[in-house]
Amino acid sequence: MPDSLLIIEDEQLLGAELVRHFRRAKWDVTWARTFREAHHILFERELDPLVVLSDINLPDGNGLDALEEIRRRGGRGEWVLLTGYGEVPDSVRAMRLGAFDFLTKPCEQDHLDLVINGAARSARAQRRLQDESENRARRYTPESFAGHSDPAGTVRTLLRKLMHVPFSALIITGETGTGKGLAARIVHHGGRRAEGPLVEINCAALPRELLESELFGHEAGAFTGARARRRGLIEQAHGGTIFLDEIGEMPVDLQAKLLKVIEDRSLRRLGAEREIQVDVQVMAATNQDLDTQVRNGGFRADLYHRLSVFTLELPPLRERSADIRDLVPLFVAEYNAIAGRRVSEIPDAVWERLERYAWPGNVRELRNVVERCVLFATDNRLPVEWLQLGSAVPVSGQAGDASIEAGRLCLPLDGSLGLDDMVGRIIEATLRRQGNNVAETSRVLKTTREKVRYRIEKYNIKLSNRC
Ligand SMILES: Nc1ncnc2c1ncn2[C@@H]1O[C@H](COP(=O)(O)OP(=O)(O)OP(=O)(O)O)[C@@H](O)[C@H]1O
Ligand SMILES: [Mg+2]
Repeated sequence: MPDSLLIIEDEQLLGAELVRHFRRAKWDVTWARTFREAHHILFERELDPLVVLSDINLPDGNGLDALEEIRRRGGRGEWVLLTGYGEVPDSVRAMRLGAFDFLTKPCEQDHLDLVINGAARSARAQRRLQDESENRARRYTPESFAGHSDPAGTVRTLLRKLMHVPFSALIITGETGTGKGLAARIVHHGGRRAEGPLVEINCAALPRELLESELFGHEAGAFTGARARRRGLIEQAHGGTIFLDEIGEMPVDLQAKLLKVIEDRSLRRLGAEREIQVDVQVMAATNQDLDTQVRNGGFRADLYHRLSVFTLELPPLRERSADIRDLVPLFVAEYNAIAGRRVSEIPDAVWERLERYAWPGNVRELRNVVERCVLFATDNRLPVEWLQLGSAVPVSGQAGDASIEAGRLCLPLDGSLGLDDMVGRIIEATLRRQGNNVAETSRVLKTTREKVRYRIEKYNIKLSNRC
């Protein structure tokens, strides 16, 4: 479908020439000779043009007034305004209304093309963002936190309450895979800041220096390698939400800077002299016991108290195993669609195994198990033989498992292990070889200690009784 362009121009000759030119360039062009007509096209015929090229002064009105009304009524598209020679446009007002550009008549064809193409690119990018955010808003509702158990119902009630409270900080706790990320998205997309960005970062995934510059940004020359100025993630979340996953892994000095963002709504980029005002809502998630961390000095008490004014606790799956009956069909449908399978029957033996298992990796682990089963299904039944519950972590050397031989790790490529499980096996095997020493393990695997620690938690690897 060609892109649509609305031209608002009362001069007959110029209007006809513009229409001819842009039709030749494959635009779907509509021409309005007055604002009345443009009004009719936009609001009664509900045309949603990608770009509007409008004369600023028409006998029946002014282009900026028209643009103001469009914006008030939620109209999209970029506006390029044409001014007569010698006319001085109210550029401050135009900027406030978000006009894309001004062109003075008569204007060069090449320049006009350049500006209109730029406006089209910008409008397309905005549409993509808007569509994506509408999609997400549809996808992330309290109902998408599935489960008919009482604990799941309580979570949904709390999510609905939180969506209507203008809180500045919230902490989401729960074991790995219980849906903390999902809950954060539901609260953001259903809340007052849904129009603003949701920026996510995992505090365990980056070493301290990188985490600081990612979060707070830096000025050019703030440190070796900082060639250009960079806006940090908190700044990028302005007007929306910053979601800090694994907050328990954030170094204590950065916690102080974060507290300042919440309390004073301001931050200072690395190497900057001035503070910048930021308006963000902070959501933090953790699967650690922050209370204990506060007591042994690993987490600042003031930040903890500030964050825990609003707390959302997600129950482990084993305490709401009734929800397995809701979650499995959801995941089966999802992977049926992704992999073109037609699994529709879940044998009793499968339900029995699923309901008996303790699910240390919670809903994420359940989802992974369902994915494997759907992908390996040969008919419409979910195959019990691919559940492989209880063999999720140990490196035992049995069929379907990993084994260590002469300092090398063997991983089965017959489909019995997913990539995620393989990563778990690699971490566990290396830890065992290094006497459970996290620093040595991270050195051997050429990664950071934070990442190794994160994965120990994620894959529920026990350090004490192995080795
Ligand atoms: N109640 C639920 N209903 C439907 N899907 C769920 C539910 N809870 C979790 N999930 C799904 O399970 C997966 C894991 O959830 P999520 O990533 O939110 O967990 P998490 O608590 O953030 O885990 P981690 O601590 O490892 O970061 C996601 O695909 C999520 O959509
Ligand atoms: Mg998460």
